[in-house]
Amino acid sequence: MFKIIAPSLLSADFANLQKDIEMINNSEADWFHIDVMDGVFVPNISFGMPVIKAIKKHAKKTLDVHLMIVEPDRYISDFKKVGADILTVHYEACTHLHRTIQAIKAEGMKAGVSLNPHTPVSVLEHIIADLDLVLIMSVNPGFGGQSFIETTYTKITQLKKMISESNSKALIEVDGGVFDKNINQLSRAGVDAFVAGNFVFSNENPSAVISLLKSKALEI
Ligand code: DX5
Ligand code: ZN
Repeated sequence: MFKIIAPSLLSADFANLQKDIEMINNSEADWFHIDVMDGVFVPNISFGMPVIKAIKKHAKKTLDVHLMIVEPDRYISDFKKVGADILTVHYEACTHLHRTIQAIKAEGMKAGVSLNPHTPVSVLEHIIADLDLVLIMSVNPGFGGQSFIETTYTKITQLKKMISESNSKALIEVDGGVFDKNINQLSRAGVDAFVAGNFVFSNENPSAVISLLKSKALEI
């Protein structure tokens, strides 16, 4: 069994990004979770291509890029160029989601779709077989350090069922408010990959926190 820990660089020290990247390289983390926000789809702006390109220079693990932007199709090849390995778009931001997913795959990246807390998993019924990843938002996207929304568990159970009934290979990732007290229950519900920002980087020993999260995720 594998369980993936994906620390979110949104909570890293942007003035010492290389240090935090090396910490992740040398930790039990599996992916770098990279949050791109445009100030339109979400009420916040994070960072874009030049920063991701700089991260890629030092990162030795998968770049899991989460786009919280409108019209993501305009930038798919740019995200490939700066080093994205997994590219996740929001269901709520894509009018022609099937086309967007095919375009991501055509660039040689893994394709993910993210759902806001109010969006039911049933909207993915006709696309689930094409997806490499579904990212369930367990907070409203836009900011780190928010509280976990409890209805997420039901969505994960429903998604797990949909995936197994459709022969999909999609991984389930959860993002927002993940910490040592809920990661085990999420893991038991079927989550494969866990994003954690504030809980990791607010601790003086982030690498130990990553190990703690991993061991709790594996205790099933
Ligand atoms: C929120 C981002 C998350 C965020 C999670 O919009 O998508 O990835 O960094 O942070 P925490 O773990 O602090 O809730
Ligand atoms: Zn995210």
